[in-house]
Amino acid sequence: MALPRIHAIVPAAGQGLRLASRPGLPKQYRPLLGRPMLQWSVERLAAHHAVRGVTVVVAPDDSAFARLEFDAECPVDWTEGGDTRAHSVLNALEYVRQAHRADWVLVHDAARPCLGMEELNRLLDAGLRAPAGAILALPVSDTLKRGDGASPAAIVATQSRDDLWAAQTPQLFPAGLLHQALSDQLQAGKPPTDEAGAMEAGGHHPLLVPGATTNFKVTWPGDLLLAEALLRRRSWS
Ligand code: C5P
Repeated sequence: MALPRIHAIVPAAGQGLRLASRPGLPKQYRPLLGRPMLQWSVERLAAHHAVRGVTVVVAPDDSAFARLEFDAECPVDWTEGGDTRAHSVLNALEYVRQAHRADWVLVHDAARPCLGMEELNRLLDAGLRAPAGAILALPVSDTLKRGDGASPAAIVATQSRDDLWAAQTPQLFPAGLLHQALSDQLQAGKPPTDEAGAMEAGGHHPLLVPGATTNFKVTWPGDLLLAEALLRRRSWS
């Protein structure tokens, strides 16, 4: 049986405002050990032998991507993003289906530079056998409180965490199914916050594959230090 063509997409066309980026420096270009975060994230995907190529989705006014030099085992190229993450991924899907004839896509956050090969292998092993693919995720371990929306917020209720998972990336889907699901959601004016959300709305049930706490999304200023500590210590295989 021919191996499926697996292509990675990294949406990086946003600004990442929660990290209070320096003006003109979107989060994905913040340096970690002297190299842009995006570079680490792309190279983790490109290091896997099953990944045939990586397409980064950049903002139309991006001037930094062209200066990056990737240390990658497969081709890394780019395409232009859209108004929301979902628009950006849909643009990229159209591009990679045509230019790379991708059968499956792995969509990965630019802000998860510490992806490990172990969890990526787990995702591919489980997801490629599942009709609607799979995502990395972690069972919620903290007790969940609902706040009242005020500042400071007061507790209104404790939510059950039974069967709750926190979604991570990469998220692996058949390219055609994700294309259909994202197009439908965008046409309905309901851009999902992750790709699995579009699949769910389309009636699909991707698998939840245990991720890793080290594959966190760099979101808050303290996360930069944590990511650097991991990148420094980790021996990438
Ligand atoms: O802003 P948010 O955290 O939802 O962004 C998640 C990811 O989607 C980021 O990597 C960001 O660069 C990307 N994004 C995009 N196109 C947009 C908005 C966000 O590729 N229009």
